[in-house]
Amino acid sequence: MSLLALAVTGRGLIDPQEPAVRADDEALLRGRAAFETLKIYGGRPFRLDAHLDRLAASAEVMALPAVERRRLEVLTGLVLPKAEQGDAVLRLVWTAGPQGGPPSGLALLSELPAWIEDVRLRGASAVSLLGVRATAPWLLPGVKSTSYAVNMAADAEAKRRGADEAIFVDGDGIVLEGSVTNVWWRVGKTLRTPALDLGILAGVTRQTLLELAGPCGYVVEEGAFPLADALSADEVFTSSSVREILPVVELDGRRYELGAAAAVLQQALHERAAKV
Ligand SMILES: Cc1ncc(COP(=O)(O)O)c(C=O)c1O
Repeated sequence: MSLLALAVTGRGLIDPQEPAVRADDEALLRGRAAFETLKIYGGRPFRLDAHLDRLAASAEVMALPAVERRRLEVLTGLVLPKAEQGDAVLRLVWTAGPQGGPPSGLALLSELPAWIEDVRLRGASAVSLLGVRATAPWLLPGVKSTSYAVNMAADAEAKRRGADEAIFVDGDGIVLEGSVTNVWWRVGKTLRTPALDLGILAGVTRQTLLELAGPCGYVVEEGAFPLADALSADEVFTSSSVREILPVVELDGRRYELGAAAAVLQQALHERAAKV
């Protein structure tokens, strides 16, 4: 993803090639930073408030300095013109800062990766991998921290096994989430998705889909579902802000058709995003 613009607290817009974080920032040394990734539609961020709410909540659970929302909104305003009223990706990062020092806020604007639409057309393949069910606060349930090395390693393992993405399943075989997505499957007119009390990320797209599902003719069940339930479903798909709704056509070797729900919800999501 090539970086189009970068703005940093205390400095404003800077050259995207320039260093922006201190070498002794705990974000770099220990992964102590919270972040958000969201999509820019036609130059406008979709559900920025919900992302800033989640960023503030993540920072609180990680005991980072409180997120200064207004400053991040200003940084967002600085990088957005570089989207030139088109689609792009916005990352917001809030770091711990050096010990005893001030946190840093960053807004990074990048190009939308081209591969997403190709995979949407053909459908993604996925493998289930063992993941951790975050049942205690220090396991950071629902937190989007930059300590994403485990998620990235799972992604690499999925690729090593010839799949596009990883879906985490806990030691009891309960489906959790993707390495960077929430997971859904359809049985008839019912959509199932893992419940938030499993310690998964409360996806902003997941929340949008909960709102859109009813009007699109689907009932949603949230819960603790075994992998076998997804494997016997009619359709599987994932959701995230940047990838939006991606159909899954293969999970652990089981094949699915490109599904109707993924297509209808993708369309509804775009209509919702066009209204903001
Ligand atoms: C682990 C994980 N789950 C779910 C999601 C989807 O969240 P959202 O819809 O807010 O992008 C993400 C997004 O990056 C993620 O990293």
